[in-house]
Amino acid sequence: MKTRLLFLGPPGAGKGTQAAGLCESHAMKHLSTGDLLRGEVAAGSELGKEAEAVMNRGELVSDALVLAIVESQMKALDGGGWLLDGFPRTVPQAEALEPLLAQLRQPIEAVVLLELDDAVLIERMLSRGRADDNEAVIRNRLEVYREKTAPLIDYYKTLGLLISVPAEGSVDAVTQRIIKALD
Ligand code: AP5
Repeated sequence: MKTRLLFLGPPGAGKGTQAAGLCESHAMKHLSTGDLLRGEVAAGSELGKEAEAVMNRGELVSDALVLAIVESQMKALDGGGWLLDGFPRTVPQAEALEPLLAQLRQPIEAVVLLELDDAVLIERMLSRGRADDNEAVIRNRLEVYREKTAPLIDYYKTLGLLISVPAEGSVDAVTQRIIKALD
């Protein structure tokens, strides 16, 4: 199975859930910028203080701040597989990732796009109840996704890396679809 991966998709599609399971079963390092940022918020760091209000509004944290986190994490990679979950989220982030990976000589093998209807996304997030999971913020996150992140679909399609996977059904059913698509 391919093991240098990006996960792309709207909020609530199951990126974090699927990434955690696959990284465990296929010995990949799971790098979630959302989790890293929430860790900074919980630790009360300067970076976390800067990010918290932005995240709670459902906006994107600045590219510079996210890139600073990702760069230090990528430099600590050991040559095994990895899965970037929730990053890149904008075209400038994708462009900044390229020289980093070229330097590491670890090109992306596939970009998995998890696709799901808005109604199911919203239902999943509302039943989770994270700080940014109320209806108004969810709608904003979906808008931000369409405006700033969805252009990455064509970006990676053009590079021949995009694999679309339907994200409805049980967690196990989606996992099996992803594994099959990455063979
Ligand atoms: P981030 O943490 O990346 O959140 P997100 O993209 O909005 O995604 P979610 O975590 O909501 O959804 P998911 O697709 O991971 O689904 P999950 O597995 O959790 O980002 C949060 C914020 O951080 C951003 O808004 C932004 O402010 C900032 N940020 C992060 N990265 C950034 C970046 N690169 N640049 C700038 N800012 C950045 O599942 C959702 C729920 O559904 C869970 O409860 C789960 O248990 C459930 N579920 C999952 N799969 C299934 C299934 N098959 N059936 C039923 N329930 C399911």
